[in-house]
Amino acid sequence: MSDNGSVALRGLRVLGSYVRMHPWPFGLAVTGASLYSFATVASTIVLGRVTDKVLLPAFDGSGVSSTTIALGALAIVGVAVVHALGVVSRRFFAGLTAARVSKTLRTRVIDRYRVLPLAYHQSQPTGELLAHAEADVEAATEVLHPVPFSMAVILLVVLATAALFLTDLVLATVGALVLPFLAWLNRNYSARVEAPAERVQARIGDVSNVAHESIDGALVVKTLGRERAEVDRLARSAEALRIERVEVGRLRAGFFPAFNAVPVVGIVVLLAVGSWRVSTGAITIGVLVQFIALFQLLTFPMQLIGFVLSELPRAVVSRDRLEAVFSTEPGMPPAAESLTLPSGPLDLSVRSVTAGYGDVKVLDDLSFEVPAGSSVAIVGATGAGKSTLAQLLLRLADPDAGSIRLGGHDLRHLASDDLRAAAALVFQDSFLFRSSIRENITLGADMDEARVRRAAALARAGQFIDRLPKGLDTVVGERGVTLSGGQRQRVALARALARDPRLLVLDDATSAVDPTVEAEILTGLRRELDTTLVLIAYRTSTISLADRVLFMDGGRIAATGTHAELLAREPAYAAMVQAYERRGAR
Ligand SMILES: Nc1ncnc2c1ncn2[C@@H]1O[C@H](COP(=O)(O)OP(=O)(O)O)[C@@H](O)[C@H]1O
Ligand SMILES: [Mg+2]
Repeated sequence: MSDNGSVALRGLRVLGSYVRMHPWPFGLAVTGASLYSFATVASTIVLGRVTDKVLLPAFDGSGVSSTTIALGALAIVGVAVVHALGVVSRRFFAGLTAARVSKTLRTRVIDRYRVLPLAYHQSQPTGELLAHAEADVEAATEVLHPVPFSMAVILLVVLATAALFLTDLVLATVGALVLPFLAWLNRNYSARVEAPAERVQARIGDVSNVAHESIDGALVVKTLGRERAEVDRLARSAEALRIERVEVGRLRAGFFPAFNAVPVVGIVVLLAVGSWRVSTGAITIGVLVQFIALFQLLTFPMQLIGFVLSELPRAVVSRDRLEAVFSTEPGMPPAAESLTLPSGPLDLSVRSVTAGYGDVKVLDDLSFEVPAGSSVAIVGATGAGKSTLAQLLLRLADPDAGSIRLGGHDLRHLASDDLRAAAALVFQDSFLFRSSIRENITLGADMDEARVRRAAALARAGQFIDRLPKGLDTVVGERGVTLSGGQRQRVALARALARDPRLLVLDDATSAVDPTVEAEILTGLRRELDTTLVLIAYRTSTISLADRVLFMDGGRIAATGTHAELLAREPAYAAMVQAYERRGAR
């Protein structure tokens, strides 16, 4: 996809952005690692000195003073303490940096999901969305752990190289010859690993999708006996992931030993050349010991830098996947100004609204008005666009043309919080969280008991809730699976009612409730709730409770009037309602 040079560059840019996110812990980690570097170089110098001043004189019988021995011991211990301090602070703060950066990224992803419109969520599989927030964040930030260390080892390399050249020019030149080999190895590896690394992250998303779908669809899977097939489907995508991971693993497996072997061969060559230099008297044994120790010290930083370089492609790939989320346009710009809505029920005005999905037009120049405090029933065949319209009324999407006004203001000019506080939409299958019924109604808002109970009673949910083992505090299963469809619908309705909406849109929201109970609910709402009501329904008993009926056909309002008027006047309407009635009377 792109060459190695640009991966490294992009990697550095990614790392730079992380450092800017949390500069403090990162700076402290680098400081700790620098302490380590100084202490390490110092330890080799101490080692060389102790060899020449303590060990060799002790063995060749020329004698060492106890002060010299004590100084030697002190130097060794002192250097070790600084070394340990450096390691501890580097590890602690590097971990802290990585944890903070991944939290920042994860929060950004989720925050982005929050502002992206419903259409985005509908177009992305859930597993993919989860993979961005989990696997991609992990892979994008994992590289951070060794970064402070490798920055400090660059310092170590500089110090050690300086020390090497100061110690002996000939040996240092021999040692420096391994570097071009390492650079070549790394270039070669990065170029080859980027594409498989990218495929690994994509496959993780696939596996996550399949797993999510088959778990989410457990009911369908089990009733149709599709368990085996679902397991096979998962096995296939897990296998695809395995293949890509093995490919990355194979490349890494070849890279690391080679990267480690080059310096080892270097040491052998140095020992040979060094022994010759000692024999000619050009250097002392102590200098050779120090030299080998220094060189060996360098191999670790080289390995570490190699490790960072090998992790970078993965980080870059994952970060690219996250950037794709960050750069997705919300599509629905937030309101620039904050307008105040009038108090009490809100009038609704839909003007020449056109909307659809992609190229498919669902609503075509549709207009109607609902006076404040009145109720309309929207009736139309399946697929007529009723739910699409309901979503527009709550600004879950914006129309392609035309406008929707609530309380005299275009929805696009209202702050999202104001709109959500004023209007509520209940669907046919609203989502219940795995928590108590009370929490499902309040959704964390501060509401007193009386308010929750009143909303439950209005939704005709009070009775069945009281019969549950812990009443309002009964915990429902995930998505409310421990309740019946009609009970779930009534909890969802209570959730909307507890917010005293001034526009209430019910999209088939009571379809699973008994017709008599449904009629009771709506009569109760009309009597006790001061709201504008838009009712999408198909039962005659329900429709006839609305002040007015809008008959939707062909993406427009084909006819309006009371239920009785339309029955008498519109044969198409009468035919449809009667067909629904026959079906509904099961
Ligand atoms: N998210 C979507 N993406 C693409 N097409 C959709 C989507 N939702 C609904 N549609 C299509 O739009 C049309 C209207 O759907 P909808 O508004 O749900 O109708 P209704 O609620 O009246 O049954 C249908 O043809 C449906 O297939
Ligand atoms: Mg619908």
